[in-house]
Amino acid sequence: MTALLDIRGLTIDIARDGGPARVVDGIDLAIQQGESVGIVGESGCGKSLTMLSLVGLLPNRIRATGGSAMFGGRDLLKLGPKELRKVRGSEIGFIFQDPMTSLNPVIRVGDQIAEALIWQKGLAKEAAQARAVELLELVGIPGPAERARAWPHELSGGMRQRVMIAMGLAGHPRLLIADEPTTALDVTIQAQIVDLVRELKDKMQMAVVWITHDLALIAGLADRIAVLYAGTVVEDAPVSAIFERPTHPYTRGLLASLPTLAGAAMERLPSIGGTPPEPGRRPPGCPFAPRCAHAVAACAEAVPRLAPVPGSDPRHRVACPVMTERAAA
Ligand SMILES: Nc1ncnc2c1ncn2[C@@H]1O[C@H](COP(=O)(O)OP(=O)(O)OP(=O)(O)O)[C@@H](O)[C@H]1O
Ligand SMILES: [Mg+2]
Repeated sequence: MTALLDIRGLTIDIARDGGPARVVDGIDLAIQQGESVGIVGESGCGKSLTMLSLVGLLPNRIRATGGSAMFGGRDLLKLGPKELRKVRGSEIGFIFQDPMTSLNPVIRVGDQIAEALIWQKGLAKEAAQARAVELLELVGIPGPAERARAWPHELSGGMRQRVMIAMGLAGHPRLLIADEPTTALDVTIQAQIVDLVRELKDKMQMAVVWITHDLALIAGLADRIAVLYAGTVVEDAPVSAIFERPTHPYTRGLLASLPTLAGAAMERLPSIGGTPPEPGRRPPGCPFAPRCAHAVAACAEAVPRLAPVPGSDPRHRVACPVMTERAAA
């Protein structure tokens, strides 16, 4: 089966006075139709830049410099701004972390959604406004016809996030990318938003990529989890395999820091010491080696590639020869 999105060998560099600094270093990631994939990894590992690169929204001085991202038979990295604008919204929907920075404070929420529809789908004004109310209803906003006339500041954080989701869905995308859409919300509301997206994913038959720091939150939504470290995928597996057989020392460290996993059948590591490499200061070899309790001399030599984990789910892959060998033994 052809993947809906197939990212191979993606590299992203930041232009700096002293020369380019690499922040994303050869990401391989495929998303199947209708699949939901959680992307986890600590702050600065390149989660947002990876996703922004797909739709041409990288900040100034930051560029995708290598690799490919096939989507619907085209390489997204090779499309021009005009084509990307079409992809954005109508084929790939985005939801960002902070609704207050993404919603225009001086436009009523219904009008913001309607504008997106007019622009993306070429709907007439009345049709777009009616569709906006339907979308507000779809995302569980009570009294959608009245709420459509509200200003963003009149809504609660959770309701604003629902408006953002409605905007992300407006073009009926095949892929919805959510970049930490719930971190600003309290825990109960976070769970409601996760439930909502899971429900919408089935209803609209779209794939979802959900970026988060929170492994526990994503476990209820994702089919698969990709763990990023310093701009590379270090482990990629179905959720059950990630929780039952975490294999990369970094993944194990992330899981060990989850309080709910006490007593799980896994080697418990003390929380990971040290910090990830700064952009442009990547060590040769495995980027995690300097922080890794299991590193051997060879880890500092070659960058490990993703390889299947012996004895686990066939989709379970890890970029750590030390642990792969151990799993095979
Ligand atoms: N506009 C920018 N200018 C310079 N450097 C940037 C910019 N945006 C991101 N970076 C750097 O690129 C790296 C990756 O950033 P990115 O935003 O993709 O991380 P992230 O994994 O999304 O982190 P977070 O979890 O904090 O959102 C970081 O080291 C960051 O400092
Ligand atoms: Mg981010």
